[in-house]
Amino acid sequence: METDLLRKYLEFYRDLGIQTLYKRPAAPKPPSAEPDQPAGHQPATAELPDLPALAPQGDTLFQILNDIGDCHRCRLHEGRSKIVFGVGNERSPLVFVGEGPGADEDAQGIPFVGRAGQLLTQMIENTAKKEGMHLLRDDVYICNVVKCRPPGNRTPEPDEMEICGQFLYRQLMAIRPKAICALGGTAARALTGHKEGVTKMRGKWFHWRDIPVIVTYHPSYLLRPYNQGAKREAWEDLKKAFHFVYD
Ligand code: URA
Repeated sequence: METDLLRKYLEFYRDLGIQTLYKRPAAPKPPSAEPDQPAGHQPATAELPDLPALAPQGDTLFQILNDIGDCHRCRLHEGRSKIVFGVGNERSPLVFVGEGPGADEDAQGIPFVGRAGQLLTQMIENTAKKEGMHLLRDDVYICNVVKCRPPGNRTPEPDEMEICGQFLYRQLMAIRPKAICALGGTAARALTGHKEGVTKMRGKWFHWRDIPVIVTYHPSYLLRPYNQGAKREAWEDLKKAFHFVYD
């Protein structure tokens, strides 16, 4: 392989901000008529963890959704009602990435439809209007780092992000937006690999591969009464993103 392919996989994880790889337990070997080969004579692939395929040529959102199927790849499937893949304009030059579905999203299978989602919709549409742009929620694409609701809305675990990250990676590669807006710390860390808090990162440009990423507060954070001051900053961040993408 082997080295080239392995390097590609490592770049793939690095692009997702994943620094640590978890080796999943190997599936039990089927009984074989062949005698066991001595160590050192095994094919190199036997030593590799169970790695996902990289984005196929000509990949589409339809194909990605199809590949997710009735996903049981991580423990998040246990409590989910619906997989929340993504919604909006598949050719959007701007993609919003959140953390993971909450209760309303899990029930409907659509990202950002609960209270935080309603705030996000208002933020998008009102900011655009104030800036003299006609932009509706349906004009952008919205998705999450993980596609199944973490129990009790906890932060997704690194291995869950790693497993689901392959699909976010493919979504972004298929859409190839002009910019990405990371909503909150989980999305910011997953996309940029930076570990600072959102307060430090917000309003700044980073990159996911060659695509500019702007970080802003997660709308759930802005719903808390003591964080109202941050709303103005989030509005500023969106303004910056819209002018970059649509001017
Ligand atoms: N929070 C998220 O991060 N994503 C959603 O889809 C809803 C709430």
